[in-house]
Amino acid sequence: MPRFSKSVSALRSSAIRELMSLASRPDILSFAGGMPGNELFPIDEVEELFRNLDTKTKQAAFQYGPTPGLPSLLESLGGFLERKGLPVKKNRLMITTGSQQALSIFARAFVDPGDRVLTEYPCFIGAIAAFRACGAEIVSLPVDEAGIDIAMLRQEVENPDPAKFLYITPYFHNPAGMLYSTNRKRKLIKALQGRDIPLLEDDAYGDLWFSDEHREALQPIKAIDPEDIDVCYMGSFSKILGPGLRLGWMLAPEAIYEKCELIKQSADACSSSFTQVIADAFIRSGRIDTYVASVREEYKRRAASMVKALRSNLPAYVRWNEPKGGFYIWLTLPEGADATEILKRAIEGGAVFVTGSTFDPQGTRNNTMRLSYCNNTPEEIERGIPIITRAIREVCG
Ligand SMILES: Cc1ncc(COP(=O)(O)O)c(C=O)c1O
Repeated sequence: MPRFSKSVSALRSSAIRELMSLASRPDILSFAGGMPGNELFPIDEVEELFRNLDTKTKQAAFQYGPTPGLPSLLESLGGFLERKGLPVKKNRLMITTGSQQALSIFARAFVDPGDRVLTEYPCFIGAIAAFRACGAEIVSLPVDEAGIDIAMLRQEVENPDPAKFLYITPYFHNPAGMLYSTNRKRKLIKALQGRDIPLLEDDAYGDLWFSDEHREALQPIKAIDPEDIDVCYMGSFSKILGPGLRLGWMLAPEAIYEKCELIKQSADACSSSFTQVIADAFIRSGRIDTYVASVREEYKRRAASMVKALRSNLPAYVRWNEPKGGFYIWLTLPEGADATEILKRAIEGGAVFVTGSTFDPQGTRNNTMRLSYCNNTPEEIERGIPIITRAIREVCG
């Protein structure tokens, strides 16, 4: 028997991944995955952009690149982020292999086995896995429709054994779907200031807003640039171009960045030059803006059709919020309800979703479920949601 490390023994398989095998059955309607719709990818645009590149750039696409990223992409992405108000020049920007790698790098930079880290409950499963892989003890603080529980956060920052960082996903949360209010961000900043607990701010979905009225709340904490907090911001091309590029980024204060660059060097030396060249051309051509505007409209349409189907089919005892952007709707069932039982019945009926325990660092609380509307047409949503709501009624009455 191979003698595995303690940290790998602590890893458990993601329920999402197991569900993905079911989701690939052609007869199943999947509301499980957090992936963009295949039919939405900008294939023609990218083909044309690549064809029009000069030979030197095409050659660079096949070559190794610098660990922090191709200079041209760092420059164009820097401009893209500056337009959101992010303090790019005061910090250091690094291209990562998906923002998942940024999470792993931050975890390796800060966590020794047994160290406490703070997350939200519920929490993105990829973050749970990355933190756990370093042996972190995860303390999760609940979120409501406006953000993390501030009273619990204040208690945690007073803890004599301070957590190594706080990780949050404030903009169209995965899985809770919600958007932090400006007021909640203000309180969070106040609670963290001067505590020497870095903030990892994950902004994978912030570009996918449905209405202008929410844009003010989308200002990243990193853009507010609060004093006395090390804010490590991360983002991704996955939802605004395609996850297959495997490109994300981190924007971090110099001292943290330096450690992160060393870690990335040992992880993969550099992210794909090929996809960096494509992302750079996509930004420089201005297509990123028109493309993101078009997918925003499409996700808004899909979200509206899921909201309509839920309104007409969900029992009144299920709590949920209309999405303001992003990919997800989070349902809270009565206390004690078992989402796994609902999932089994939904699969028999021909639809899948993700059970709430997947997003619980303790893996226990399971009276919740995540529905994604990103990867289905409105017609599929209309057909699939009644299968799921029927399963809820069968199990919860
Ligand atoms: C909140 C959040 N952060 C990070 C990621 C990782 O994305 P990627 O590694 O594709 O950039 C995801 C993917 O679903 C996500 O939902």
